[in-house]
Amino acid sequence: MSVIQEKLKDLEKRNELAMEGGGPIRREKHKQGGRLTARERLDVLLDPGSFVETDRFVTHRCTHFDMASNKSPGDGVVTGYGRVNGKTVFVYSQDFTVLGGSMSRTQANKIIKIMDMAIKAGAPIIGLNDSGGARIQEGVEALGGYADIFIRNTMGSGVIPQISAIMGPCAGGAVYSPSITDFVFMVKDTSYMFVTGPDVIKAVTHEEVTKEQLGGAGTHGTKSGVSHFSCDSDKHCLLLIRELLNFLPGNNVDDPPILPTRDKPNRLCESLEDLIPDSPKKPYDMLKLIKEIVDEGYFLEVHQGFANNIIVGFARFNGRSVGIVANQPQVLAGCLNIEASRKAARFIRFCDAFNIPIVTLVDVPGFLPGTDQEYNGIITHGAKLLYAYAEATVPKVTLITRKAYGGAYIVMGSKLLRSDVNLAYPCAEIAVMGADGAVNIIFRDKITKASDPVKERQKLTKEYEEKFSNPYISAELGYTDEVIEPSQTRFRIIEALEMLKNKKDYNPPKKHGNIPL
Ligand code: HXC
Repeated sequence: MSVIQEKLKDLEKRNELAMEGGGPIRREKHKQGGRLTARERLDVLLDPGSFVETDRFVTHRCTHFDMASNKSPGDGVVTGYGRVNGKTVFVYSQDFTVLGGSMSRTQANKIIKIMDMAIKAGAPIIGLNDSGGARIQEGVEALGGYADIFIRNTMGSGVIPQISAIMGPCAGGAVYSPSITDFVFMVKDTSYMFVTGPDVIKAVTHEEVTKEQLGGAGTHGTKSGVSHFSCDSDKHCLLLIRELLNFLPGNNVDDPPILPTRDKPNRLCESLEDLIPDSPKKPYDMLKLIKEIVDEGYFLEVHQGFANNIIVGFARFNGRSVGIVANQPQVLAGCLNIEASRKAARFIRFCDAFNIPIVTLVDVPGFLPGTDQEYNGIITHGAKLLYAYAEATVPKVTLITRKAYGGAYIVMGSKLLRSDVNLAYPCAEIAVMGADGAVNIIFRDKITKASDPVKERQKLTKEYEEKFSNPYISAELGYTDEVIEPSQTRFRIIEALEMLKNKKDYNPPKKHGNIPL
């Protein structure tokens, strides 16, 4: 055998060892729950043959607790870059079979190396997380590794899209990096996120809770809102990440991709003529409206199970990516509450950071009243939404389909918050408040003194409705640009987006704003 042949044989052996991860027994155990291995996950996520691995032979340097004899090439994470639908992305995929995917100093070094490369190259980074947190044998050194990752997450925020998939039990430090990133995906039944696990909770607070109840996909997708997408399997999760990436630019100076569509821009949406019920008290499904107007009815909903009184997600109009924010009259009558404000504000800020126009569909009776909301800070949380709309400089197109009352009217992409094109249906009601509430306040005396207070209230309510429950006062003031027929919705939004495609708008220079957190 020649020297080079020997060297090649040696390389082959080293590569084989690196592919082994934690070995066949741990691998089999890992796969029992239907989970894919770290490398199989990359195969599904990336375009075939596009993955280039970095740092395959890195090993840890810990010597405590016999760790010197417990080394695995790659140290529990596969890192590198590849392509999704032809576009470069950077990736890391933790290998739970190696010391539970735990974060060592060297594992962190591998991750921050590709994070730095992603920021310099202006390409998204995707973390596939499957880790028991800081490597306990290393102690504080591992914590230093986490801090370095958190700094890169923060520096990269608003510069490159950052996506996290939670694909196993993620505890301790393993949850904070994902939470700084833009979107968190979780896999039902096999992934968990918690700062402290059930055992610690039991010891400290005596509460008994299962892993699933505490930090499963159901909990974070519906209660806490920590997770944006709940997926049925590893494969579903990875394919959904590919779909999301299709809507996004590589970085904050690129424009989002324009994809060809067979859906005609001037398609009339006749079904919308009957969608909004005659009675303003009756709900309807805003999702139907969204699916009717966007290209090929395709809407990628974000936060599908959380704060369903507001809908957010991505779609395309004539091939262009947009972020849609819409009240859902079917849930809490479409009122804005704490969760809805947080959900929409963060989504709007993501779209604004990455040059994705915002289309807002409004049917909002107001902020949700109640002590629960006030005690928990609806003032601060609602202000987040105001701040996000007011600060956004991307093209903003708003359509009022029915109610738009008071503060909630201002918040939801009104002209008053720098929206560019504001449309309304003829059945829109744009006023300071609903007729019932308004009449009770301004005509209280008149009603109580009337010979028939019920009849008087009805008469005054009708008068108020006729005067204010329409889009024309707002149109007279120029707050509404145009009152349109529902069937023309798609065409008019596309026209507005086309007109705005080169929009430039700026905020004053500053270190950073101070959004009410
Ligand atoms: C080193 C770890 C580890 C860790 C798991 N392992 N977590 N090794 N450091 N943090 C190892 C186990 O020893 C085991 O090794 C293998 O990974 C698989 O773990 P199991 O416990 O057998 O798996 P499972 O039953 O599925 O339970 C998974 C788990 C549990 C829920 C994640 O391992 C666990 O609770 N780990 C500790 C979680 C934790 O407290 N982390 C916080 C660290 S402190 P063998 O050799 O048997 O295969 C932290 C603070 C950072 O992260 C704060 C920054 C802000």
